Amino acid sequence: MASPKVVIYVAYCVKDQFFVDHCNYADDLESYMSQAFVGVRLKQRWTTLPRSLLEDIGQEQDVLSFVEVADHDGPYQDLDGKILPVPGAHIHVDMFALSDQVEKLTQYIEPEGDASAVHPHTGSTLAIVYTLPHNDFASQWNSLIFDDFFHYRTLRYLLRRVITPTPESVRNFQSPPGQIVLLHGPPGTGKTSLCEALAQQLSIRLSSYYPRSKLVRVKATSFFSQFRSDSDNAVVRLFSSIEAMINQDQNRFIFVLMDEIEGLARSRKTSSANAEPGDALRATNALVAALDTLRQYPNVLLLSATNMLDAMDDAFLDRVSLYSVGLPEAPTRYEMLRAALGKLVNSGDVSLEHIAEEDGEEVMLLDDAPAEPPRFDTILPPYGALSLAAGKSGPAQTLLQHAKECEGLSGRKLASIPFDAACSCVEKDVCTLGETLEAMGVEIAGLRQPSSS
Ligand SMILES: Nc1ncnc2c1ncn2[C@@H]1O[C@H](COP(=O)(O)OP(=O)(O)OP(=O)(O)O)[C@@H](O)[C@H]1O
Ligand SMILES: [Mg+2]
Repeated sequence: MASPKVVIYVAYCVKDQFFVDHCNYADDLESYMSQAFVGVRLKQRWTTLPRSLLEDIGQEQDVLSFVEVADHDGPYQDLDGKILPVPGAHIHVDMFALSDQVEKLTQYIEPEGDASAVHPHTGSTLAIVYTLPHNDFASQWNSLIFDDFFHYRTLRYLLRRVITPTPESVRNFQSPPGQIVLLHGPPGTGKTSLCEALAQQLSIRLSSYYPRSKLVRVKATSFFSQFRSDSDNAVVRLFSSIEAMINQDQNRFIFVLMDEIEGLARSRKTSSANAEPGDALRATNALVAALDTLRQYPNVLLLSATNMLDAMDDAFLDRVSLYSVGLPEAPTRYEMLRAALGKLVNSGDVSLEHIAEEDGEEVMLLDDAPAEPPRFDTILPPYGALSLAAGKSGPAQTLLQHAKECEGLSGRKLASIPFDAACSCVEKDVCTLGETLEAMGVEIAGLRQPSSS
């Protein structure tokens, strides 16, 4: 039996929702790419399309925002920079436009239509609602770096196992496990960013089944300060509003992001032992009850995050699919430091000039490295291309050494090191890459010193 074709997922972003609703350019792009391309790379991006294709589909160049190779369904191992052959693969194009729409969720929609039940907090903001895919999260997915393609694996898991890909099969699937996802791990490891990016990517990948998506973003910790002794009622109002949104449109997918969920799902055992206020216990009870109601709907996914797993309520933990987000390994740390340096180079805060003089011309890592001007990717290649530089000295080796010494640091801390280093070069407006790398060494040595307290 012939093995099934590998699917290559392509994201096709147009500038206006009108084209998504009224024009089916996706099929044309699918057949064009299948015929014209020999191979593509993950994250490869185009901002123009060939004139001949545009004429065929009657589309102007300025309709297009970008086309990007978003994913594939083959193995992720060694995928960085690898060419995915197009002949023999199936190209799947998802067409979408980025929205700017953000609303406040304030209304309690009475399920029984009891208009007399006016609540003291009716009108307070319960959550922020984004129409997905949203401009605010446009670059989030590609900026994430995890060991072993963790984010792509999680996305695939959610697409395959949680959101079974047809609404009919979802409806037939009794109590699908994992409609509640909890990311846990140390602070600054990218949990919140990943939740937002997963909702964005899922909204694009699910668009053929659910043409519309919303992200309801709730900061659980602010519930207590905002609603005080009324937080359990606020939880009930929040989830009633979410349920109303789900019921309003069966073709709409609702993502609920509950960040810092420990604020609401605090362990009832320890809370009562520590004599915490009764409303915290009532809020946890209200949340657990609301989750059971939500589980009956196929078109909702709750994404939550915490760095306090030990403080979480057992009944809540029983209901979730747990994902552990760890501190990054050395190759990921190298990529994170490299990405942060790349931003500083792009913004003009760090210069690549004189790098050859500083570090010796022969540290240019690739045989075909252009002499002028020095390109960032040539001087600091991705980790996967580093073996070409094995045994040599130079910026890439210095950065690799820095990455090795940053064991135990989070993505948030790593992202700040090059920036702090560039700021510390106070003698000049713009410091060179060599100077920045040297200052990074000093920063990292400082971070490794045991604290005096
Ligand atoms: N895996 C990662 N890839 C890329 N950037 C990261 C990653 N992890 C952290 N960062 C950087 O750190 C910042 C903070 O990340 P984020 O807020 O998502 O972490 P968190 O795990 O939710 O932290 P906390 O537990 O404190 O809420 C991001 O804006 C990003 O700059
Ligand atoms: Mg967070």
